[in-house]
Amino acid sequence: MSEQPLDRYAVIGNPVGHSKSPTIHAAFAEQTVQAMTYEALLAPLDGFKDVVSSFFQNGGKGLNITVPFKLEAWQMAERRTERAELAGAVNTLWRSDEGCLWGDTTDGVGMVTDITSNHGITITGKRVLILGAGGAVRGVLQPLLEQNPDRVVIANRTLSKAETLADLFRSFGTIEASSFETLLGEFDLVINGTSASLQGDLPPIPEGVISRDSRVYDMMYSAEKTAFMQWAESQGVALAVDGLGMLVEQAAESFAIWRGVRPETGPVIRQVRAAMV
Ligand code: ATR
Repeated sequence: MSEQPLDRYAVIGNPVGHSKSPTIHAAFAEQTVQAMTYEALLAPLDGFKDVVSSFFQNGGKGLNITVPFKLEAWQMAERRTERAELAGAVNTLWRSDEGCLWGDTTDGVGMVTDITSNHGITITGKRVLILGAGGAVRGVLQPLLEQNPDRVVIANRTLSKAETLADLFRSFGTIEASSFETLLGEFDLVINGTSASLQGDLPPIPEGVISRDSRVYDMMYSAEKTAFMQWAESQGVALAVDGLGMLVEQAAESFAIWRGVRPETGPVIRQVRAAMV
């Protein structure tokens, strides 16, 4: 009896060599006993669409998309989910049975699941401050607002970008824009979605925005505590966590779309964390 070929999946990025997605999906596949492979594919900066087309023409089943191709993936998708439409980004592609190329983004739901389920932080009814107004923040706003927070304030160095995002998502809940300097009031949850720490910087957060009861979430992650977490802890916050769980949860959501089964994420988060130290 001939063996069934394994279904092929991959993450495409540039660079992609350090992506944790192959490890995460291999762990999900083993846990849920799926006949599949998952690899990392490096696409040339000007060759993303060709790599995607040839992957699917050769029988590939699904792709994750990472930096810097999420917008190109959004443009390439023939159909998009509502959350991807609003996010302006696609991190998951697959072909439907009818041959249509679908795009979704699972980053936002991944972040909300990590915050609420893994860290036990309530968003509903809370005052939420989100720092940054780039692609990463746009990608998570709809699932965040669907939790019905009391209010969401987007603070950004470039105020106009925060205002544009607030306008775009106003129909989903109470959302305002602010510069860092003019931020007022205390917040229950502060989410860092800036890329400031990549340059060794911290977003300039004024005094009085966080208290000992605040929870702090960094969408970035690293083996050590991130600079933002360290700053928050120096202010005495109740809890400061990084976004490693978001990475695993967004992967689990993609996996569930492709395979129809939802893997257990806790053991995989622990496995990826242990491999980082
Ligand atoms: P991403 O896709 O990671 O969101 P991006 O779209 O380039 O990347 O957005 C980066 C975000 O980090 C922006 O909100 C940016 O602020 P500006 O819109 O004012 O550029 C923010 N950011 C980057 N470096 C920062 C710094 N040193 N201090 C504060 N904010 C910073």
